[in-house]
Amino acid sequence: MSVDAAGSGNFGDFQDGIYAAGVGGVQPRFPLLYGDLRNRAQHVLDARIFAYVAGGSGNGLTQTKNVEAFQTYGIVPRMLRDRTTRDLSVTLFGRTFDTPIYVAPVGVLGAVHPDGDLETAKAATKVGVPLLCSTLSACPMEETRAAAAGNLAFFQLYPPADAELSEHFVSRAIDAGFDGIVITVDTGQLGWRPHDLQKASLPMHYGQCLANYTSDPAFWRLAGVNSEAELTIDKKIATWDRYFSDPTFSWGHVDKIRAMTDLPLLIKGICAPEDARIAIDHGVDGIVCSNHGGRQANGGLPALESLAAVIEAVPGHPVLFDSGVRTGVDVVKALALGATMVGVGRPYVYGLAVGGAEGVEFVLRCLLAEADLTMGVDCYASIAEIRDYGLRRVEYLSTHTNRLV
Ligand code: FNR
Repeated sequence: MSVDAAGSGNFGDFQDGIYAAGVGGVQPRFPLLYGDLRNRAQHVLDARIFAYVAGGSGNGLTQTKNVEAFQTYGIVPRMLRDRTTRDLSVTLFGRTFDTPIYVAPVGVLGAVHPDGDLETAKAATKVGVPLLCSTLSACPMEETRAAAAGNLAFFQLYPPADAELSEHFVSRAIDAGFDGIVITVDTGQLGWRPHDLQKASLPMHYGQCLANYTSDPAFWRLAGVNSEAELTIDKKIATWDRYFSDPTFSWGHVDKIRAMTDLPLLIKGICAPEDARIAIDHGVDGIVCSNHGGRQANGGLPALESLAAVIEAVPGHPVLFDSGVRTGVDVVKALALGATMVGVGRPYVYGLAVGGAEGVEFVLRCLLAEADLTMGVDCYASIAEIRDYGLRRVEYLSTHTNRLV
């Protein structure tokens, strides 16, 4: 463990620092509980940006169930077993990481904070948390990659409806030194998002977070200009609108991207085991089991419910998981169900809103500390141990409240 040199060397040492500071009269700058963090973020964010981050698809059923699904599992506490050191390390494509979490791609970091992409990259790198960098960013991917030097960073591709632009994005990511490509496939078109519709607002329609497009000659061609300087705001937005997504994107397109690189290739947005299998047949190296945090399709199936079957469908291949992770306990549960790594979405975005890089770092450290301490208290020294024994399905009752989660 390398995260905090002081103390026992476990991620949970983070709480010792908080208590120690308290003796000197210093309390944490940022909220520890997710609900408080989200409320603070709502306070500081422009209402239309908060709506974009917090809102989901339709009445929010899937978004809520993503979170509640974690309550359908309970961790069985074991006692009197040595857990002096907890090993939360995971291996992905031959590399070992001390932290089992990763930063999920979020396309509006630059609207949440002026330097949101870079602040997030720096914070994640400081804590040792790998990151997936969205196509939608306020600075070109080359700058984000540089801000995450030394850290594992994958480029997340939203396949555009233009072959040349798509190829450029992939080759730029390779040249910039990204460690792999993640194709997000659940956004061939934008879902029905009442929170945004109520405000008649989409951040990209304000020209926000389009730097990867506006810095690319293929995009200039589509806009009918010869340089970035010639892109008027209207041209920028209209061209992005026209070419952002490709509803015809299918496995043949995946083959073309596969043929471009030997870097690890993942597909994000898979919940059906059949699709996971097809992806592997097309040479994809790993799956991100995710329903986009319930932002795309509404309909009730929580992503966590799909995880075990997806893992079973692609033995020997990594299956990353995101959607609904709010606490360190959720991280432990997803790992116990077999996820190779667990993605953090909205929580770190709220951290970014309230405190820039420091806020992101705080959120990541809290998640890791809680995951570690949960394992410590329940006497599990490793993820393997908790996979073997730690999780039970439990009955629970919940009422869908249409609250933001
Ligand atoms: C996302 N997500 C996302 N995914 C992706 O592949 N590319 C992207 O650009 C974005 N953008 C984005 C914006 C915002 C505001 C959110 C909240 C999410 C989805 C993201 O990677 C992840 O799947 C979800 O955030 C997981 O759900 P929770 O845990 O945040 O509810």
